Parts: sequence; structure tokens; C-alpha cells
Amino acid sequence: MYRTVNNGELSKKNIGQQVTMCGWVQKSRDLGGMTFVDLRDRYGITQLVFNMETNSELCEKARSLGREFVIQIVGKVIERASINKEMKTGEIEVAVDQIIILNKSKIPPFTIEDQTDGGDDLRMKYRYLDLRREPVKNNLILRSEVAFHTRTYLKNQGFLEIETPVLIKSTPEGARDFVVPSRLNQGEFYALPQSPQTFKQLLMVSGYDKYYQIVKCFRDEDFRADRQPEFTQIDCEMAFVETEDILKTFEGLMKNILFETKGIKIDEVPRMTYADAIRDYGTDKPDLRFEMKIMNLESVCKGSGFNVFDSAETVLGVVVPGGAEFTRKQIDSLTDWVKRPQIGATGMIYCKFNEGGENKSSVDKFFDVSALKSWKEISGASDGDMLLILAGKKSVTINAIGNLRLEVAERLSLRDPNLYKPVWVTDFPLFEFDEETKTYHAMHHPFTSPNIDDMKLLETDPKMVRANAYDMALNGTEIGGGSIRIHNKELQQKVFNLLGFSDEEAHEKFGFLMEAFEYGAPPHGGIAFGLDRICAVIAGSDSIRDFIAFPKNNSGRDVMLDAPSKIDNDQLNELGLQTK
Ligand code: AMO
Repeated sequence: MYRTVNNGELSKKNIGQQVTMCGWVQKSRDLGGMTFVDLRDRYGITQLVFNMETNSELCEKARSLGREFVIQIVGKVIERASINKEMKTGEIEVAVDQIIILNKSKIPPFTIEDQTDGGDDLRMKYRYLDLRREPVKNNLILRSEVAFHTRTYLKNQGFLEIETPVLIKSTPEGARDFVVPSRLNQGEFYALPQSPQTFKQLLMVSGYDKYYQIVKCFRDEDFRADRQPEFTQIDCEMAFVETEDILKTFEGLMKNILFETKGIKIDEVPRMTYADAIRDYGTDKPDLRFEMKIMNLESVCKGSGFNVFDSAETVLGVVVPGGAEFTRKQIDSLTDWVKRPQIGATGMIYCKFNEGGENKSSVDKFFDVSALKSWKEISGASDGDMLLILAGKKSVTINAIGNLRLEVAERLSLRDPNLYKPVWVTDFPLFEFDEETKTYHAMHHPFTSPNIDDMKLLETDPKMVRANAYDMALNGTEIGGGSIRIHNKELQQKVFNLLGFSDEEAHEKFGFLMEAFEYGAPPHGGIAFGLDRICAVIAGSDSIRDFIAFPKNNSGRDVMLDAPSKIDNDQLNELGLQTK
């Protein structure tokens, strides 16, 4: 038997026991006549002790151990002379009688410790070593827990886990497809699923009225911290449901995950329409851990002869609590921040409402005391606060002020990592209108049903049609999204037409689904959560990469495997991909 105990479980109550243990050498140190070795495995670290006086040969062997050697030891659990309260096994150590080197290790290219000296690229190249580090390990443990509690909850709710294929035809989730050439059908390609959307709808037609799957999805998108080309969804669908049934079922799932992994109890998940979210927070994924709602200041700012406001489509502000204390330097740095191309504001105006009632703005030349007073009133600011104002084109300004709100909150540490504030955002528009190409795109996907009250607008003003679609945001990240689906062939055809598909194109791409709708498709709807994102948000991290065992880097590469890579000519020929 390789081991009788692991490295995380021994305590005072084991004192006197004989144990056999295995693991990796974290580090060793010589203190006079004694040698100490920290032995590590997935469960923790145990201190081993060797005594030069009682067994010099064994002690020499311990001294020869390099970092990350894999060893097996036999020894006796003894009480530590100096207890280490920081360590789970800090009350004991193991006095070793026998040591076997199971495998040697080269010196690792970076230190395998919580704070490592390894840069990103190096750690990605040697990801299997990075995964030995405690913080990364804890992320994977969290991920396993989230998946486990998801399965338990959904099973208890009567869901069936059903797998769907990976070599499929394009699914319309709005990103580019990864494609796979077919050897047997040369010149033809499979697409990898951007989501199992069409399959889960077909499963509803088949009568599996509660489906879920923890499933890999593939999207050829540009890199962002919350995106990977290959990621995992908790994908769900239900039949005979309305929006209310879906929201109740899946807020139950999130409450369960937060309770089981963090001990956090959420009473109720608030709901907000898309229009309200954009108006109050400048985004469809609001962070509700702090207030700072966006204020429309048009009524008090426009028409005073100040061209920046008068010529703007909109004037919006946020109140920074305690902001009157901001220095010139802090304000300048925020101004530079909003003027970055990613944010796109042309400038920023501020007004400090100082304690004692004196107000001071960056546009005092244009606005008198009474004007600033009206700004204070309409924005609800108090003495000691500061109002930040952006003006310009509507779409740019809304987005910029939403981002400014988050940036200020970040700088003031208002985004408390121990708070969890989920929110449902509902009533998304069905379509987005692309001004450049003058075409409509599905805001969610083309299978989303329109709100029944807006049916008439489909004919007259499609961009005003609301969808039966909903997202869940948690602490400012979109963690899930879904909709009630169209289950009627004619309506589906109409939506395809509005999206610019001819009947033939729609038939070519989604004929199988529309045909299925003719064989008794029940009303249905669903949602998919991003598993990687749920884990990152729960752990308070912006990046999903550390919650994926073997992620891709910023340019979509696996630097450990060196993938993607060229394939040889024979393989290209076999696939019919050789051009000459
Ligand atoms: P959607 O495209 O909104 O909906 O995706 C659902 C959730 O998946 C996560 N997600 C991602 N996570 C990491 N990297 C990515 N590249 C990535 N893209 C999406 C997000 C998102 O909320 N079929 C529909 C769902 C439905 O209608 O039921 C769909 O895929 O957390």
C-alpha cells in the first residue's frame, strides 16, 4: 500500500501512530542536527523530521532530496516542539524511519508556492506544475463543488442529464464557428457547437421536459478576461413553462450554489428590465453591490449656453460618495481614464459639493451658484459628495458613464468581494439594429420568442419588440442567459425573415428544427449559465482562466501543447485540404 494517510489529515489525536505517506517535496531545511521536509499532496502539507544523531544515514538521504521529488515515507506521528497555528497539520510532525524515492524531479522552472516567481507564460507552459499550487488547486476544487451542487440540485428538481453531439452544424450564438474538416465527405465541414441550443429544443419536442447538461461550448471570439474559446455551460431547457417558472427554478440553482460553496443565503433575486438597467447603471449586467445610480441631468444642464451640454444628445452624471475629498490628481486620472478609446468620452466635468455648502465645479465660468444647487438637488448628492458628468452621443455616453461608475467604485473599494448580489435582467429587445449594414441581429438568438404584447410591432417597428429573454448578472458579470422559445413554425420563419434569411436559407440552416416544430413541439424555454464565470465571480476573480484546468492564452493558444499547430501534408491530402 502506497499510503495509509494523506498529508492534510494528521492532528494531535494521531500522536503515536505509525503512518505511511506519499507526496512531493515542497521544501527541506537543515537546522543543526535536524532536517525538516515539507511533504505536499492535494490534501495539504505535513512536516517530516529527521534526526542526525539517531539516524545519520537517513538524515543524509533527506538532505539530498530536491524540490518536487516524489517520495514515500514510513514514520511515527509525534507532537511538535513549536506548534504552527497557521497550518492544518501544525500540531504534529512525522519522525521518519524509512524513505523511498519514487521519482526524482528536475528543478521546477518557478517556485510552487502561493506567491510564485513564475510569469504567466511560463506557468501556462508548465500548467501541470502550476496546478500543484494551492490557489489554483482551490479554484479547481471550487469548480468541482459548483458542478456537484448543480447536478444535485437539478436532479432533485427532476432534470435529466443528456449529452448532445460535438460534431454538428453551425449554431447561431453570434460568434464565429470553429470548424472540423470531414475526411469522409471531402470539402465539407462540421462546426463545433457554440451551445447545444438546437439540440435542447429538439429534446423538448421529444418530450424530455427537464434537460440539463454540463457541456463544453466553442466560440471563435476575441479574447477577454471573461471569455475563453472553449468554455463550459450549465445548459438547461424545460417544456410547458413560462418565464416565471424558469426564473424561479434557476434562481433556486444559484441560491443553492452560493449557499453550498460560500454559506451565503440569498433571500430573493431582484428583477430589473433591460431598459431600467441601461438607464440606471449604463449596462445590462449591473453590479448591485453599491448604489451610485446614473442620473439624467439634461433638464438642469442643457440650455444654459454651455456648448458641451447644449450640443450633446444626453448629459448623465454619477454621484461619488465622499468625492469632495478627491484631489486634482485623482480627478485628472479619472478624466484620462474616461477619455481612453475603449471608453470613448470626450471629457469629464465635475462638481464638488463641499462640507459647509460651498459648491465648486470645473465649469464655474458657465454655471452660477443656483445652477450648481439644482445639480445637487436633482442628483440627490449630499455635502461632501462629488458629481461627475459626461455628455455626448447617447450610446457612447451611457456606456462610458456605466464604466465610470464601476471604475470609481473600484478605486473607492465599494465592490466588496464578500458580497454577492445576483439580479435578473428581463425584457431585452428582440433585435439589435446595425446602423452600418441596416440589418437586424437577434439580441439573444433567433429562437427567442417575442413578448406577446409586442407582436404587432413585428410588422411596424421591429426594434421596439421586447423579447421573452432574461439574463442573470452577479456582481457585474453576466453569468447566465436564456429565453422562452418560439415553438411555432410560422413565427420562427417570420423571425428568420426579419433577420435577413430568405426562406431557402432558413430552410437550409434550420430546416430540421422547423420541421420538428410541425410534430407537436411543446411551449418551452431555458437558460445557460457559464460555469467558468460562476466560479470566477464566486471566488472574486475577474479572469475565468484560473478556473479552467488547461486554459488557452490571450491569443487562443495552448502554450503547453503548442496548439493550434500545422498538420502534415498527408493529413491535409486525406482531408482534401491540400490546395496544390
Ligand atoms: P449565451 O450566449 O448568453 O446563451 O451564453 C450563456 C452563458 O455562457 C457564458 N459564456 C461564456 N463563458 C466563457 N467564455 C465565453 N466565450 C462565453 N460565452 C458565453 C456566459 C453566458 O451568460 N444557448 C444560449 C442559452 C439559452 O438561450 O438557453 C446561450 O448560449 O455566462
